[in-house]
Amino acid sequence: MLTKRERYLRTVRGEETDRPPVWIMRQAGRYMPEYMELRKRHEFRELCLIPEASVAASLLPLRLLDIDILIIFNDIMIPLEEMGLPVTFPQGGPRIAQPLRTEADLSRFHAADFDDPPVCRSLRRLKEQAGPDVPALGFAGAPFTLACYAVEGAMSKNKHVIMEMVYREPELLERFLERIADTAANYLIAQIKQGHADGVQLFESWAGLLAPTQDYERFAAKYQRMVIGKVKAACPDTPVHLFAKGSCGLIEAMDASGADVLSVDWSLSLADARRRTGKCLQGNLDPVAMHVPEAVPRLVSRMLEDFDWRRRWIANLGHGILPQAQVEGARAFVQAIQALGR
Ligand code: CP3
Repeated sequence: MLTKRERYLRTVRGEETDRPPVWIMRQAGRYMPEYMELRKRHEFRELCLIPEASVAASLLPLRLLDIDILIIFNDIMIPLEEMGLPVTFPQGGPRIAQPLRTEADLSRFHAADFDDPPVCRSLRRLKEQAGPDVPALGFAGAPFTLACYAVEGAMSKNKHVIMEMVYREPELLERFLERIADTAANYLIAQIKQGHADGVQLFESWAGLLAPTQDYERFAAKYQRMVIGKVKAACPDTPVHLFAKGSCGLIEAMDASGADVLSVDWSLSLADARRRTGKCLQGNLDPVAMHVPEAVPRLVSRMLEDFDWRRRWIANLGHGILPQAQVEGARAFVQAIQALGR
């Protein structure tokens, strides 16, 4: 039998395995009563920053779902603080009290380097506790997505502030993006070198706002390539995953990013994605399937129609699991994938 770690690494390399590996974006979260218990004892920020707490959260999906790949519990917003932007996490999502809006804001927003940040201590501890057979991923927000939050200051519905900057002051936005790209690369490299992450994922949740092809290329793809290029130069053997929400029209650009694994949402069928890229795919069930446990086997079968799932595919959702999900739904998903090997 392959270990979970071997199955993961072989899948990324395109080698044969007994079955596909499965994990769930945001797999440790509010849909789990055990996570809510942890949250009673710790603020969200503490769960990100105190290694003991972060590891306890990271391990829940292994214990409760027998998940195949762990991801360190943290948040994409955390490194913005090292860049000069304090972040809070009230109900309703992350908040930046003084968002980036003007040229003058460049003086309080700088690229950050990381020696041994809390996330690396958490990763080492996670690897110790889960053992060498379970792979653990590190992650960072992709530059455009982090810039969205840094410029908007909060979760906004139509993201008009960042898009106004795209249209009115593109050069200013580019200067923010360069600093974020530098920081994200340093952060990922630290997670691999100091934290011994087995793989890393870049979360590009908001690039679907950008018009293809020019704006997506100028403000998202270019900076993804900068991050991935730097990571690959420092750590050539570590798989890099690129998740992009709104991936339907972007898959060719994702392919050109240098990532090893392309994580797509449900706006694109896996069969179609495979025709358009030779890279290892990840995804792409609608997270809302997790709210309807009895529908999961049928929806998994439909996801796999005309798709050769035996190679180069990591099962996942097309976006993060929601607080309204049922644990039974997540369990049904993991079990449906694990049954593919039998
Ligand atoms: O996958 C995992 O289990 C690791 C943990 C993880 C979190 N956030 C925990 C979290 C990961 C990988 C993220 C990434 C993240 N964070 C993204 C990219 C992925 C995506 O979903 O698009 C984004 C955009 C963020 C920013 C962020 N952090 C938002 C928008 C929110 C609030 C959203 C909401 O549902 O309220 C957070 C807070 C957050 N990050 C929570 C968790 C479990 C909920 C906080 C709580 O417990 O109160």
